[in-house]
Amino acid sequence: MRDNECTKIVGTNVILVPYRKKHVERYHEWMKSEELRYFTGSEILTLAEEYQMQKRWHQDQDKCTFIILDKSIFTETENEIEAMVGDTNLFFNEPDQPNTAEVEIMIADVTFRRRKRGWEAIILMLLYGVNKLNVTKYIAKIKFDNEKSINMFEKLKFQKVQKSQVFQEYTFEKVINKNWIDWLYSEATINITTYEEHDKEREKEKENNPAHNL
Ligand SMILES: CC(C)(COP(=O)(O)OP(=O)(O)OC[C@H]1O[C@@H](n2cnc3c(N)ncnc32)[C@H](O)[C@@H]1OP(=O)(O)O)[C@@H](O)C(=O)NCCC(=O)NCCS
Repeated sequence: MRDNECTKIVGTNVILVPYRKKHVERYHEWMKSEELRYFTGSEILTLAEEYQMQKRWHQDQDKCTFIILDKSIFTETENEIEAMVGDTNLFFNEPDQPNTAEVEIMIADVTFRRRKRGWEAIILMLLYGVNKLNVTKYIAKIKFDNEKSINMFEKLKFQKVQKSQVFQEYTFEKVINKNWIDWLYSEATINITTYEEHDKEREKEKENNPAHNL
């Protein structure tokens, strides 16, 4: 989504950055995990397909994708690839409900699970969606046997509204209201800022291709 391509969201222990080409290789390694593909409803892709998917997600207006970085690793190394721990997405799938978004999250690096990275990252994403993308309702689709995620979304005050035997998943939803937004703010510190790396890369592109300056 072009709306978030220059956006960086900084929290206490995580930083969200737009999903870029340079992240694809590590992302592809993660998605070799059958567990991750099952819980996120993803298909196995070749590396070339993964690059195409990243490009499409970047261009499509109905998808907002961030990579989750561990803040302490990034502060120490300034290397986004080393600091990558997962991703979080919003999908605007319902043409007749443009303010409804499906939210997804994964902490792909298992050594970072159960350390509140998922909790903080999803709260930052939920607040970003409400504040910058005018979301008024969230939904989440969760496999029947994904106890961790069910616990997390129930703790986020989502409610189970549907059950699909075909997909073996529940649909949870949360209609946004002021009390809930205030509560999200009480759970996280959020700083929405500019993704400077993007600016540097654009500068480089311009230097390499002066026609951009015209
Ligand atoms: C679900 C997931 C994102 C949770 O991220 P995480 O960083 O490990 O979780 P957190 O430490 O932030 O915990 C947040 C809440 O999630 C729930 N939770 C997380 N891990 C859990 C576990 N092992 N058992 C039970 N509940 C768990 C709890 O409610 C927890 O709150 P608490 O610590 O106060 O009990 C992570 O397990 C994951 O990426 N799983 C694979 C992909 C996936 O299932 N994505 C969701 C698709 S719908």
